[in-house]
Formats: sequence, C-alpha cells, structure tokens
Amino acid sequence: MSTTPDLSLVGLVEAAAAVAGQPDLRAVLSTTVEMARRTTGARYAALGVIGEHGGLSDFVYVGIDPEQAARIGSLPAGKGVLGTLIRDPRPIRLDRVSDHPDSVGFPPHHPVMETFLGVPVRVGNSVYGNLYLCDKEGGFTEEDETQVLALAAIAGAAISNAKLNERLRRLALVEDRERIARDIHDGVIQDLFALGLGLQALAATLDEPEAVAKLDQAVDRLDEVIATLRNLIFDLRSLDSTRAEPRGAFRRMAERLAAGRDVDLQLSIGELGELPPDVLDDALLIAREALSNALRHGRPDTVTLQVDRRDSILTLRIEDDGAGFDPSTAPRGMGLANMEERAARTGGELRVESSPGAGTRLLALLRI
Ligand SMILES: Nc1ncnc2c1ncn2[C@@H]1O[C@H](COP(=O)(O)OP(=O)(O)O)[C@@H](O)[C@H]1O
Ligand SMILES: [Mg+2]
Repeated sequence: MSTTPDLSLVGLVEAAAAVAGQPDLRAVLSTTVEMARRTTGARYAALGVIGEHGGLSDFVYVGIDPEQAARIGSLPAGKGVLGTLIRDPRPIRLDRVSDHPDSVGFPPHHPVMETFLGVPVRVGNSVYGNLYLCDKEGGFTEEDETQVLALAAIAGAAISNAKLNERLRRLALVEDRERIARDIHDGVIQDLFALGLGLQALAATLDEPEAVAKLDQAVDRLDEVIATLRNLIFDLRSLDSTRAEPRGAFRRMAERLAAGRDVDLQLSIGELGELPPDVLDDALLIAREALSNALRHGRPDTVTLQVDRRDSILTLRIEDDGAGFDPSTAPRGMGLANMEERAARTGGELRVESSPGAGTRLLALLRI
C-alpha cells in the first residue's frame, strides 16, 4: 500500500509551524487566516472571534483590501450563516452560500461570495471563534475541511498559549505565579502534548518521506516548546525557594526534568553553604541544560548529577550512559554555548567529553 505524495499535508505542517511560532494573539489570528487561505486555495479567509453576547467581537480577514473594506463599512456581526456556525459549532461546507436556509445575503459593496467553508476554533473546552473560507474554484472538498479542522485545532492551542503569554507579561510582577504555572501545565502543555501524539499517529500512517520528515520536525519543535514551557513553570515556582535552599533546588530541578522518563536519576549534592545568587543561577541553569541534553539527545538508562563545593569552587558533574556525540562535529546549539559562557563568566570553565556510543561526561567549574 502506498500513499500518494501528499503535498497538502506538507503545506499543513508548514502552516502549523507558522501559526505556532507567532509571538502574540494578533499575529496568531492573522497567520491562521493567511495559512487557511493558502492551504485551501480560497480567495477570502477570515476568523471571527465570538464575543460575550454571542455575536462577533473581532473579525480578522484577508482577501479584501482596505478601500473595499471601508466601502462595506462595519465588520460582520455574526448573522446569517456565520450566526448558524456560532450557535451550532460544527463545520459547514457549501457550494453556494446563498442556498443555505439561514443565508441573509451580503451588504452593499461586499463581494458576492459563493463557495463556503466554516469551522469552529476551540480553545480548551469552549468555542473561541470560527474560521471562514470563501470562493475556492470548484468548491471546497472534504480534504479541505479536514485540513482546516486540523489548522483550527493548532490555532486553538496557539491562541491559548498566546493568551497565557499576554497574561504572563502583565502579571510578571504579581504574586500569582503558582496559579499561572498550573494553568500552563494543565492547559497548554496537555494540549500541545495531545497535538504531538496526533501528529505522530498521522506520521505513522504515511509513506511519503517528505511529509513524514516535516511531521517529525513539527513534533520535535513541539517537544522543544513543551520543554521551554516546563522550564518556565520551573522558574515561576522556584524563584523564591531557590535562594533559601540551594540543595533542594538542584534536586527538584533534576527530578522535574526526569519525571515521566524511564531513566535512573542519581543525585549527589554536597553541602553548598551560602552561594551568591548569580552563581547559584548560573549553576542551576548549567545543570538543567546539561541534564536536559542528556535526557533528550542521549536517551540514557542512567544519568548522574553531582554538585560539590570546595572553598571557592563549585563543581557540577553531569554524566549519562546514552548515545553520546562527537563534540567537534555536533551541530552547536545555544545550549552548549550558553553553558560555556556562564561558567566562563564566573572565571571557571566547561569541559565536555563524549563520543558516539560512549555516553557523555560534562564538568563545569564555577568560581564563587
Ligand atoms: N548528553 C548528550 N548526549 C547526546 N548528544 C548530545 C548531548 N549533549 C549535547 N548533544 C549534542 O550536541 C548538540 C548541541 O547541544 P545544544 O547546544 O544543547 O543544542 P540543542 O540541545 O538545542 O540541540 C545536540 O543537538 C546533540 O546533538
Ligand atoms: Mg540543549
């Protein structure tokens, strides 16, 4: 059995990556609309945000230029077929929108649109808005519907992420870090995780290598986003307790990273005494990056974190018996460079010893 080359799937994965990468809510909405139009080949696309009173509180669109929009006047209020979709959030696909019993026609100066595809955009359990597409030559297909539904699911996760980010920015100085951390953990991370599983399941059904590779990339990217969010939660939760109790901070950080993984985590954390906050931050971040690399890239059976202090030298040893790598040729990401920089900033240094198949040993010396 072989699947025909599925270029539209590649398009979808690219669209997903574009939507997920947007920094704020506005950008998520407009990218979703643009990607929905590109993926389907529709002439017009829009996303209507449902307001408190059941109408549309916002309407983001492409395909109609500003002069034309000015002539039409007000944005759609959510009547007609748009209203149907608001009351009953299930996909609607029509060859002639005017044939739909709820159709109310178009206002003056509005282009007359024929073919129509509308799907709900959910954020968590509630309907956030609807994605509308109009005027695709030959009409929208069932495949378009599936693609736009997938895009809507991705948009939903990206919207909830963007909303949380906005709240985080606003609340950065307020004492409710624990609740935000819980929201991210229970909401966004679970959504992204489910999305990743869905993409993996989809990849398993395909033969087209290009599509599978793109999906794998998307899944890797999702894993990175999840790891970033987990770190963010860790930062939110540990800010206060870290200072008072550095040994516990190393232990909690390591346990959190290893949670849910089939790995034997061995910790040996000596007496650390009092550490200057910036050295402690550097040490925690180096240990976290090294452990995260070991777990993600090495996939080891055992990983060890050893932290010791002797006079004015703090020593971190992170060892794993995983895949190993060649430090002279490995693609150098931010991680290794950042660890090196942090160690150097204290007047210390970083040593990495590894080769393929032989695990990895990383030693960081920090000067206190
Ligand atoms: N403990 C490890 N086991 C196996 N490979 C590793 C390990 N640490 C680092 N690497 C390799 O070194 C590369 C660079 O790591 P890093 O700079 O942290 O970037 P990133 O983690 O973003 O890929 C990784 O992509 C990986 O190939
Ligand atoms: Mg890394």
